[in-house]
Amino acid sequence: MKIVIGSDHGGYILKEKIGKFLSERGIEVTDIGTYSEESVDYPDFAAKAVSLILDRTVELGVLVCGTGIGISIAANRFKGIRAAIVYNSDAARLSREHNNANIFAVGARTMDHEEVLKNLEIWLNTEFSGGRHERRICKMDNF
Ligand code: RB5
Repeated sequence: MKIVIGSDHGGYILKEKIGKFLSERGIEVTDIGTYSEESVDYPDFAAKAVSLILDRTVELGVLVCGTGIGISIAANRFKGIRAAIVYNSDAARLSREHNNANIFAVGARTMDHEEVLKNLEIWLNTEFSGGRHERRICKMDNF
C-alpha cells in the first residue's frame, strides 16, 4: 500500500512520527512535507497530498495540522476527497466503514500522539462497507 503524508508546521512533529509508524509496517510512504517547524500554509500541503490521491499515485493520505481542521477543510474542497478528522477509535472505524475516507486528518496540538497512532492502525485495517454508504458517497461526488 502507498500512502502520502503531509502537514504544516503545527503538525510537523506528529507527521514525522506517523511516517515512521507507517514505514515500520511496510507501507510505502511519500512525504510531501513540510520538513521543519518553520511557518507554512496548510492549504499548500493539503493540495499537494490530494493531487497524489486523485492521480492514483497513492491510495490514501494522512494530513496533520495544529487541529486537523484547516488541513481537512482544504482537502475536502477537492471532488473525490473524503478527509475525516479522526478523534477516537469509533471515528477511525466508521470513517472507513461508512464514509470510505481516503484521508486521515488529525491535530498535533489537540490530540494525544500515541492515541492517534492507535486510531491510524484501526483506520488502515478497516474496509469500506459499501451498500447504502456507496449511494451516499456518490451523491457527494455529484454536487
Ligand atoms: C497554524 O498555526 C495552525 O493554524 C494550523 O496548524 C491549523 O491548526 C489550522 O487549522
